Amino acid sequence: MAIPQHTIDQILDRTDIVDLIGQRVKLKKTGRTWSGCCPFHQEKSPSFHVYRDKQYFHCFGCQANGNAIRFLMDIDSRNFIDVMKDLSNQTGIELPKDNQDSKRLSYKKEAPKPVSIPVAPNNPAQQKTQPTVSVPDTSIDPFAEILPPSFDDSAYHFNDPFMQFDMAAAEDTAQEGNLYDLLESVAQYYESQLPGSKTAQQYFKQRGLSAETIQFWRLGYAPEDWQHLEKKFPQDVEGLKLLGLIRTSDNGRAFDLLRDRVIFPIRDSKGRVVGFGGRALNDEIKPKYINSPDSEVFHKNQLLYGLYEGRKLKAQDWLMVEGYMDVIALQQYGINGAVATLGTASNIEHLNILFKQNNRITLAFDGDAAGQKAARRTLEIALPLLNDGRELKFFVLPKEHDPDSLIRQEGIENFQRLLQQAPLLSDFIFAYLTQNHDITTPEGKSLVMAELRQLTELLPKTGSFRYLLSQSFKEKLGYGRRWTPQVSNDASLSFSIRTRDEDFALAILMHHPFLYIHFETLRAVVPQNELLAEVLRLMNIVFEELPDDQELATYYVLGACSSYAQEIADIIQRTNIEALTQAPEMADKLATEYALALQEKYLRNKMKSPGSLIESRNLRQQLNELTKKISLRLVS
Ligand code: UTP
Ligand code: MN
Repeated sequence: MAIPQHTIDQILDRTDIVDLIGQRVKLKKTGRTWSGCCPFHQEKSPSFHVYRDKQYFHCFGCQANGNAIRFLMDIDSRNFIDVMKDLSNQTGIELPKDNQDSKRLSYKKEAPKPVSIPVAPNNPAQQKTQPTVSVPDTSIDPFAEILPPSFDDSAYHFNDPFMQFDMAAAEDTAQEGNLYDLLESVAQYYESQLPGSKTAQQYFKQRGLSAETIQFWRLGYAPEDWQHLEKKFPQDVEGLKLLGLIRTSDNGRAFDLLRDRVIFPIRDSKGRVVGFGGRALNDEIKPKYINSPDSEVFHKNQLLYGLYEGRKLKAQDWLMVEGYMDVIALQQYGINGAVATLGTASNIEHLNILFKQNNRITLAFDGDAAGQKAARRTLEIALPLLNDGRELKFFVLPKEHDPDSLIRQEGIENFQRLLQQAPLLSDFIFAYLTQNHDITTPEGKSLVMAELRQLTELLPKTGSFRYLLSQSFKEKLGYGRRWTPQVSNDASLSFSIRTRDEDFALAILMHHPFLYIHFETLRAVVPQNELLAEVLRLMNIVFEELPDDQELATYYVLGACSSYAQEIADIIQRTNIEALTQAPEMADKLATEYALALQEKYLRNKMKSPGSLIESRNLRQQLNELTKKISLRLVS
């Protein structure tokens, strides 16, 4: 079925995205990137860029982006497997054989004992097929409509021809069991054991879970008996061993992994049960939680507990917490998008999954020493993922609290308030790095800057965040800017001049030259008599050569625009841009918003006097696309 990640990586390694896209789009080398007219939307000036070092494409006009696979899927509307077969032929890297893959999902069932088989005499076909329980239909993603267009997880599995092969293979051999079916049966069994256990019911009650919550999360109970699974599923011992639910002791005796524990079934993003977590009924028993081990269908590194359920509940805001009980308690209180890792530290993949749901996510950390440590570690893995436009908040809980205990003690409203007050990543980093240094001294300040430099080394080189972060730190630490605009003392002047959107755009550009990427598309529409047009023209010339060092970059741009120094200084002062863009996330957001607003304004102006019928139609189409983009931003 799914192609393993290492094969995908190998194929991508052997494919050059510039060559591949170059066959379909006319590309021109501009500095470090290649650019051309975007094949995904209509345009006259090129805003489609291909980055060889990143093996990535991005269109600043329509935001189409991705790797070579994504490009081929989108340009020809083909599915993932289809594209991979092509690339496999081109690169000579083989895809896994169909039957090997289907084998991995199956196990050998023991010969059924005559008394225990349900017989369906009038329907021989039914006798042959094994599953007696229904699993969710894996070929349909029930939440597809709420996903952003770039969501590609489902695309990787959609219409998977190997999947059909599995089914056919399973039907041929009545003796083969399917691991997904088995997991579903076990989940139902654990669920069915809950009503019979007073202590387990009492446990959930004491933790404040309602009957609906228990049902929604399919919580259950694993009995005390050492061989309850073997007794219940005598034909499936091999499968249960593959799943790690039955273990073998040193003297060769088989026993159940989870005993006398409340059970949290873990579902993958499609709702299939793939593993279990089991919690001890009191805190004396160690370990507190036991999770079933990774298996062919259970990969803890690529799963988040609560993701399926959150999507089902159409969650908008996503919050990463540490434990199962936190996810469940938050959901019971109406906070739907909480997810947790499965007893492992969170990794890049987990964060990427969340960033696919929303560009803005919050990470919560327990208010203990372990939580602090996790925050620091997560900071380092999260930084490289911060492309422009992504927003990450860090919610460190009050001492000795986790989300479950906090929401119960403080109530939903206080919890929401604290959650909303969680600092943006930039503020969190500042607080974090300054707690150990005396920042009133020059030595302290430079130590903070040095530590920051170590961290920003992890940031994507192409994005603007690296630059924005150091600049905001310098401002917070009170480093004087060497270039300060001349302050005009004529108060009446600044009163009489209305500050226009163009001024804000220009001020942002001067203050944060790397944000030019957001304004690039404006060049085609801004009237030539605007100062902004001239500045954009100059920016376009110097952009590719901007030095990586942010301060040098600012000087570079100011130098390029020196003929307009006085006007620019006035605008910077009038817009008060320094205060407005102190948080890097704000700078980025403002840049995007002004760029879109101005584009809309210029398009509307042009619509008033179009040169021809065709132009009028083109303009209307562009305007439609733009309005769609703006409304999408408002939603997210
Ligand atoms: P915590 O120790 O923070 O527990 O572990 P918790 O979530 O607050 O649990 P409750 O409220 O006492 O029930 C957080 C997560 O770490 C994993 C589990 O996934 C748990 O949800 N964990 C914890 C283990 O895998 N094993 C353990 O022994 C403990
Ligand atoms: Mn807890």
